Amino acid sequence: MWFLLTILLLLSNGLTEGGVTSTYVRKAAPSVEIPKECFPRPPGYNAPEQVHITQGDYTGTSIIVSWVTPLKEQPKLVTYWEADDKKGITRVRARSRTTTYRYYNYSSEYIHHATIRRLKYNTKYMYELGKGNGTRQFWFTTPPESGPDVPYTFGIIGDLGQTQASNQTLEHYLASGKGQTVLFVGDFSYADVHPFHDNEKWDTFGRFIEKSSAYEPWIYCAGNHELDLAPEIGEQVLFKPYKHRYHVPFRASQSTSPLWYSIKRASAHIIVLSSYSAYAIYTPQYRWLKQELPKVNRSETPWLIVLMHSPMYNSNNYHYMEGETMRVVFEPWFVKYKVDLVFAGHVHSYERSERVSNIQYNITEGVSCPVKDPSAPVYLTVGDGGNIEGIADSFIEHQPSYSAFREASFGHALLEIKNRTHAFYTWHRNQDSMAVSGDSIWFYNRYWFPKEETSSNTLT
Ligand SMILES: [Fe+2]
Repeated sequence: MWFLLTILLLLSNGLTEGGVTSTYVRKAAPSVEIPKECFPRPPGYNAPEQVHITQGDYTGTSIIVSWVTPLKEQPKLVTYWEADDKKGITRVRARSRTTTYRYYNYSSEYIHHATIRRLKYNTKYMYELGKGNGTRQFWFTTPPESGPDVPYTFGIIGDLGQTQASNQTLEHYLASGKGQTVLFVGDFSYADVHPFHDNEKWDTFGRFIEKSSAYEPWIYCAGNHELDLAPEIGEQVLFKPYKHRYHVPFRASQSTSPLWYSIKRASAHIIVLSSYSAYAIYTPQYRWLKQELPKVNRSETPWLIVLMHSPMYNSNNYHYMEGETMRVVFEPWFVKYKVDLVFAGHVHSYERSERVSNIQYNITEGVSCPVKDPSAPVYLTVGDGGNIEGIADSFIEHQPSYSAFREASFGHALLEIKNRTHAFYTWHRNQDSMAVSGDSIWFYNRYWFPKEETSSNTLT
């Protein structure tokens, strides 16, 4: 009887057919890290390096500029001016807060974080760090003021590391020229896979990503490789290198931890969660998310996007069900508040889900399977940056009904928000030219236009 009922339920929810598993065969390439000497310091005395920027407040009028100086703390200043002011007459300065840390036998150099405030929206700024022959110049563009139909394009990258494949991913993303901000879904340097968590790998990673991170904000989300827990060598402070090196504006969204926070940027409200911090009821992260979600104003920021590291829906044998506990806790809210998209990493391949939910599950009833749900997010796993651990090429057979498309290739994604109703999403495998997308779909906003979407895939 129960068996028959289960079959009927499966048939009625329209999810009996699995999605597409790409047969694309990617050329085997060893996931060897690029040697440290290939990431040299910039020339000049005490030249600032590892420059990265992120949004510095809730609304996008501040930027946090972070950099490292190797020899001495001074100068601690970032000088900035509007790019239209060609002579830089109206130069303004902001002072950094400097920190250092020790990790086993490693001592960090001087890590600076300076917040530049009260910037104009939609304006290109130049900024300068260092002094004398170590002076370096960069630029960034502030986002447009939030509004329901403001177009904006995000790149999505995860599990990057510092291999040749990582470099292909970043170069491929940069070649598109479309991305305005990177949503980074965790697992940065992979320093922790080396003896004693060789923290010089955090330095080389900072130099590696600078070609992007100094010019456009990366929105940071912590992964398991940021934990750096090593009690065997006396290192018991979780996220120590990460928290020293990557600052986020968590207080601006009333968060009590840099590991979970939110920002508004153009037409998107972005919520960053921590898969490796407590999230059960009564915990700080749970309480924060509960009070944050009702604040989202879909008339101002129609697109509600969540970043986390461990995916809630994943049909790869790698890390299978690791996101299940967070799913049980947070999924009902994602559906209630009509989250549009949830981006995760962790699994080193690509996967896109159907709009499904599994919130009707009740342990006393016992029937549990995801069903199509127009209020549910699409879950996207983009842990395919290309790191030292290699590709996750072991998908579960056969493909479950919640999985729309999956492929074991390295790549990145782009989300081009057009207005309050439409966003064009593409996923790009590294082997293709930028004009080719391995997976593409027009996403329809869940609040303003909750219609069913159709996708297209290129399998070869
Ligand atoms: Fe991970």
